[in-house]
Amino acid sequence: MALKVRELTPWFGAEVSGLIRVETLDEGTCRELQQLMKDRELLVFRDFDIDRYFQNYLCELLCVDGQPDTDVVASNAERQSGFYISNTREGAAAPFGELMFHSDATYSTGPYEILSLWGEEVVPPVVPTRFASVTRAWDSLPDALRARVEGRFAEQTNQVQNRGGEGDRLLKAIREERTITTPVGYVNPRSGRTMLYVCSMVTKGIVGMDHDDSEDLLGELFAHTEQPENVWTHEWRNNDLVVWDNLAVQHARPDVEEGGPVRTLRKAASPAVPAGLVPQQSYGTMVD
Ligand SMILES: [Fe+2]
Repeated sequence: MALKVRELTPWFGAEVSGLIRVETLDEGTCRELQQLMKDRELLVFRDFDIDRYFQNYLCELLCVDGQPDTDVVASNAERQSGFYISNTREGAAAPFGELMFHSDATYSTGPYEILSLWGEEVVPPVVPTRFASVTRAWDSLPDALRARVEGRFAEQTNQVQNRGGEGDRLLKAIREERTITTPVGYVNPRSGRTMLYVCSMVTKGIVGMDHDDSEDLLGELFAHTEQPENVWTHEWRNNDLVVWDNLAVQHARPDVEEGGPVRTLRKAASPAVPAGLVPQQSYGTMVD
């Protein structure tokens, strides 16, 4: 299949055209897409009218080497059949409010590897989704700031931190706190590249620092990650598919109003449920 690729920023993101929805993609196309994901961390397909199965197929394809197991794809699609971000669809997650930068299920022992959103119904002016590469953030970290985080660890939590946004209201259904400790400079198991693995929404603090010092350091790290040159903003249209490496690229969104223009995004992920989580308790809440 002849694919055309356009880079979205100098450091990450690519728009891919020419992909056709078929039952099973040929080996060459699979390899090309897998390599593109490794190199660019986020792929956009526009005017791409696909069903949930194929969305899950692409997520699984970009999560594995070779061809995805179709039984796994079908199972993932079934388990995620109600997985939506919407301000109008009943039972959907994150129906309103601003979400600060985060990766989904950072606090689990094995977070989602690949996330995707597909524009099922979006009515202009629709609130965009913003993306930032924390691989790029680590690579471009100033020496003085890098020296302050070398060897440090961060505590990640499922409780939204009080740094702005409205995620705290959205996620209050999670009752029991879960935390995990990860290196600030964390090697992405998918790519082997180091990431600046802290985020404004759910990183609780730097281990071994008092609260004020930790917040000061985190504030500098967040400002570095979220500087405009490191952010790519996706303006949604119907039938847009965005697929990204959940660890390497963080996502956020400005305020979505209750009763505002329709914004329904179908979500799919691989693996279907993060490791170390009990399905349904946290599942479906930690989302854009
Ligand atoms: Fe999310």
